[in-house]
Amino acid sequence: MPIKQTILVVDDVPENLKLISAVLQDAGYTTMIAPDGQSALELANTHHFDMIMLDIMMPGMSGLETCRHLKVDPQTASIPVIFLTAGDAKELLSKAYRVGAVDYIKKPFFKEELLARVGLHLQLQDYKQNLEGKVAQSIKEMEQTQVHLMYMLGGVAEGHSIETHLHVKRVAEFTYLLAKLYGMEESEARMLKDASSLHDLGKLGISDKILHKEDRLDTRELKEMRKHAHLGAKMLGNTALPLLRMASIVCKQHHEKYDGSGYPEKRSGEQIHLYARIVSIADVFDALLFPRSYKRAWDIDEVVAYLRNNRGSHFDPQLIDLVLEHLDDFLLICKRERLMLSNQAQKKMGIFALFKRLIVAK
Ligand SMILES: [Fe+2]
Ligand SMILES: [Fe+2]
Repeated sequence: MPIKQTILVVDDVPENLKLISAVLQDAGYTTMIAPDGQSALELANTHHFDMIMLDIMMPGMSGLETCRHLKVDPQTASIPVIFLTAGDAKELLSKAYRVGAVDYIKKPFFKEELLARVGLHLQLQDYKQNLEGKVAQSIKEMEQTQVHLMYMLGGVAEGHSIETHLHVKRVAEFTYLLAKLYGMEESEARMLKDASSLHDLGKLGISDKILHKEDRLDTRELKEMRKHAHLGAKMLGNTALPLLRMASIVCKQHHEKYDGSGYPEKRSGEQIHLYARIVSIADVFDALLFPRSYKRAWDIDEVVAYLRNNRGSHFDPQLIDLVLEHLDDFLLICKRERLMLSNQAQKKMGIFALFKRLIVAK
């Protein structure tokens, strides 16, 4: 059985309330009544209504005033309001539309007309809500697809193994945590989290021979590898999309160092964008804690010592202080992400010691 729609009828004349309610109920609607504007507002805040029929001329708060209140309250703003009016003065009617009414019905009313208009506006409202729901769902799906593709692309750019995909994911989590600790607003921190997944996008333009070389890179290879910073920003191009613009900054500047000894532009201090200063720490923190083809996984004490030693030279000192102050929160991310790895992979990556330390610390 379909759910009955509920209509609130507001009128200071009891006979009108009775008559309108009877007509609506006969047509299958549920009704509630209010004798004045104030009680209508109270009812609208405590009950769900699909429509409100509002008399314009009422002692105390007028119908127009009541409608104005309904339309500024987010909880009631979307309920369609139909005015009931004895007059049809143009000025009054234009005021009624200005305060947000969808229609008006002249008193004394003609039953069929009243039901036709009520039915029409309820149907329109239904379409509107349905459409809004579908649009919101589509936007959500598009955003999820976009983020999924970004992480996938970031993972592919880093290499082709599960470890590098997880590196991208962990860097994103570290980035978000550090951005929040720094005081960045939620929406910006979330965006930076996703943008960080593309920090090494430019590696797509670096040959596999260099990318997967097990030994240390020689000077020529290192020079080639370093091109990935500039290349990533170039790939993203001159976009107006905020998320990709952010990713472009991160690509370009994530290997700059606080003392100006990094690449590609030798920026220093706050010339390096905050986004890149944050992602740079997240990237190195993860790269040290987990093994790469050319290095073993470092012990957490070694990582902490490295961060301390490079505080102010490689890394922004203020951000490093935040990491060291909240180290356990960063390690918890590692603990959470370990579920993504098989036991065998964990052994191989030698991070058991790290989790053991974490369990002892907790
Ligand atoms: Fe990089
Ligand atoms: Fe990385």
